[in-house]
Amino acid sequence: MNNAVQKSFVKSLSLRAMSQVVFLIGFMGAGKSRLGKRLAKRMNFAFLDADQEIEKANNKTVDELFAELGEDGFRTIETNWLADLNVENTVVALGGGTPCFNNNMELILQKGKSVYLELSAKMLVDRLQSAKGIRPLIEPIKDNKDALHQFVQEKLKEREVFYKQAHYTTRAMSLSANRLDSLIEVIEWL
Ligand code: S3P
Repeated sequence: MNNAVQKSFVKSLSLRAMSQVVFLIGFMGAGKSRLGKRLAKRMNFAFLDADQEIEKANNKTVDELFAELGEDGFRTIETNWLADLNVENTVVALGGGTPCFNNNMELILQKGKSVYLELSAKMLVDRLQSAKGIRPLIEPIKDNKDALHQFVQEKLKEREVFYKQAHYTTRAMSLSANRLDSLIEVIEWL
């Protein structure tokens, strides 16, 4: 076998053996859902947004679940949803807090390949301030840039312990088509 044939043979073996679920993790506002949709399309995979699935299953918005059950109640629902998840050939955008509660990061690592979309606190704040939709954890401080920056900085520091366990980390700045293809190659090799 020449080198090129050997390389593609090894690659096809690793593709066959690879788990067919890709989890995107990262802070609120990192662009997990947006990138997830593009990634899924390009990989010919299905796409799931964890928050949307939880909302559909409970017939309530994430905001309503937080208000009715508190954060602990929401985290239990989130963990149960993740534990029950049984999909193939799917890109899954998780909620920003999913990897950081219960034993979720362990589940994420077991169930598929994970990619951490990393973005600075400053960029996250800019994106969160211009984002639509209600995010219960930041709703009361969303319009106060300094308070939001402090919150994001602190939470990111706490959460990175979990996020950084992902199989791969990439800067979450808008990924060009070329960079998306490179990311897919990396995912296939994970
Ligand atoms: C949360 C992030 C949200 C959602 C919930 C809690 C968090 O998802 O799950 O509001 O704890 O960071 P996004 O990261 O999609 O905004």
